[in-house]
Amino acid sequence: MKRLFLLLSAIIPTMAALAGGHIKSDASSSVIPCPVKMTVREGVFKLSPATPVVVTFEDDKMQYATDFLNSVLEPVFGKQLKVVAGPAKKGAINIAKNPSLDEEGYTLDVTGNGVNISASSAHGVFYAFQTLRQLLPTAALKAGDAKSVGISAVSIEDKPHFPYRGTLFDICRHFFTVDQVKEVIDMAAMHKMNRFHWHLTEDQGWRIEIKKYPKLTEIGSKREDSQVVGTHHAVDLKMEGKPYGPYFYTQDEVRDIVKYAEERFITVIPEIEIPGHSVAALAAYPELGCTGESYKVRTIWGISKEVACPGKESTFKFWEDVLAEVLELFPSEYIHIGGDECPRDAWKVCPACQARIKAEGLKNEAELQTYVNHRIEKFLTQHGRKMIGWDEILEGGVSPTTTVMSWRGSKGGIAAAKAGNTVIMSPNTHCYLDYPQGNDTSIEPPFGERPGRRHYLPLEKVYQLDPYDQLKPSERKYVIGVQGNLWTEHIDTFELVQYMYLPRLAAIADIGWNYKGRNFSRFKSDVLRLLKLYDAEGYNYSTSYWRENAEK
Ligand code: ACM
Ligand code: ZN
Repeated sequence: MKRLFLLLSAIIPTMAALAGGHIKSDASSSVIPCPVKMTVREGVFKLSPATPVVVTFEDDKMQYATDFLNSVLEPVFGKQLKVVAGPAKKGAINIAKNPSLDEEGYTLDVTGNGVNISASSAHGVFYAFQTLRQLLPTAALKAGDAKSVGISAVSIEDKPHFPYRGTLFDICRHFFTVDQVKEVIDMAAMHKMNRFHWHLTEDQGWRIEIKKYPKLTEIGSKREDSQVVGTHHAVDLKMEGKPYGPYFYTQDEVRDIVKYAEERFITVIPEIEIPGHSVAALAAYPELGCTGESYKVRTIWGISKEVACPGKESTFKFWEDVLAEVLELFPSEYIHIGGDECPRDAWKVCPACQARIKAEGLKNEAELQTYVNHRIEKFLTQHGRKMIGWDEILEGGVSPTTTVMSWRGSKGGIAAAKAGNTVIMSPNTHCYLDYPQGNDTSIEPPFGERPGRRHYLPLEKVYQLDPYDQLKPSERKYVIGVQGNLWTEHIDTFELVQYMYLPRLAAIADIGWNYKGRNFSRFKSDVLRLLKLYDAEGYNYSTSYWRENAEK
C-alpha cells in the first residue's frame, strides 16, 4: 500500500521546496482526468491567503464550488480565501461566465497575474477548482500555514466526453458509515465523477429505512452470521460465527448524504433490487416470496433462488410503496431497479406466478420478469423518473425507454445500444473494482484457484476499457457513460475499500472524461503525481501496478 511511497518519491522527485512558508511550484503539472487541452506556459502565479476569489456571475450552486475551494486551501494556508462579487481583479482567482461552454466544461488560465476561470455554471467552476487543486504543489497540500504557493502558468480548455461518470458502492454485503460513504463521494468528486450509484438492498441486508415497512430494517438489516471474507462457499466455506448488524441508514442520514453529494455536483442514484437479491426483504415480510415462509437474511455470498413473487398483486404494492419513499428522498432522474441474477425456479412452481403468466399471455418466466420491469418502469415514468436495470433486463425484451447497465462484459450494452437503448458501460471485464488488482494475496480478494472474485483486473486492464467497443459511429450516441463498481463481499474494512478504488477509479475517470485523449503511457506517469494527493488526503491505495511492472 504505502510501502512503496518512498520508492515513488524517488521516481518523481518533487521540486517543491518550503522556504519560509513560500512553497515553490512543482516542476511538472498534470491533471487526472486529463484535460482535453492543456498548454503549459512560462511563469508562476503566487497564490496567497490574501488572494481573493472574485465571482462575476450568479448561480445558485456557486457557493458549493467556492466552499470546496476553501476546503482545499484552508489546510494549505490555515485560513480561507475571501470570496467577493465581481468585477474581475488583477492578482485574483476570477470566475467569469461563458454561456457557450457546456454545463460541466470550463477554461482555466493561470498566468503570473492571476487565475482566470470561465464556465457556464457552478458545476464547471467546481471542476476548474478540482483541476486547480491538482496544480497545487504537492508539498503545499497540508502545509498548514503557507505564506504563498506557486502554481505554474497553464492554459486549459476542458469538458467531459461522457455525461455519465459513475461510482457504485455496495454497502449491503458489508456496511459502511455515513462518513465513509461521504469519503467515497469525495473520492469520486476528485476524479470528476458525477454519479454515485448507491447499492442499498441485498440478500445479505436491507440498508435504507422505509417508514411504511419498518421490519425491512428491524429484521432485514441484520444477519445471523457472515461468510468469512476471502472464502468461497463452493470451495472452502468458513463462517465468522457472529451476528452482523443491525446496520442501515435512517431517512435523515440518506438526505444528508444526498445533499453532501449535491454539494459536490454528484447525483445519488439509489438501487432497489427488484425482483432478485431480495432475501433480506423476504425475511422481513415473508409474504413477498412465492412460498411465503422460512426466509432468513442470507449469510453467504452468491446468488439466491429465493426471490420476490410477481404473481401476487401485493408484491407490486410493496415495490411501489418502497419506491414512493425512495423518490421522496432522491431527486435523481434515474432510479436503478437491479434486475440482475434473478433465478426463476421458484416462479416455475408458484401457482400465483403461473396464473400471472397465463393471464397476461406471457411465454415464460423471462417474460414474467419483463412484465415486472414494465410495470415498475411505468410507475417511475408516471413520477417523472427514468429506469436503469442491469443487462439481464434485456432477456425477456426491454422497453425502448429503459437504460441498460452492462455488467456481464460489454455484450449486453452493445446489444442494447444497437437496439437504440441508452447504455451505461460497467463491464466486469474492466470496471469491477472488487476484483484483485495485484498479486499480493495478503491484501487482495481471492480469485482463480480460490474463486472469490471472477477475474484479475490490474490497472492497465481497466484502462483498456473502450465503452464504444464494437459499436458503429451511429450507435455510439446511446452510450452515455461509464461506471466503476465496488462490491463488498470480500471487502470488510474501509482501508480496503480505498485500496480497491484507487487508483483504478482514476483509470475509469480518465476514459470517461477524455475518451479521445486516452493514453496509458501518459496516464501511468501522471497518476504518480495524483498518488501524492491521495497521500495528502490519507487515502489508502494500491501500488501493485508499479511493483509488478517495474521494468516497463
Ligand atoms: C452484478 O454484478 N450482479 C450486477
Ligand atoms: Zn410466485
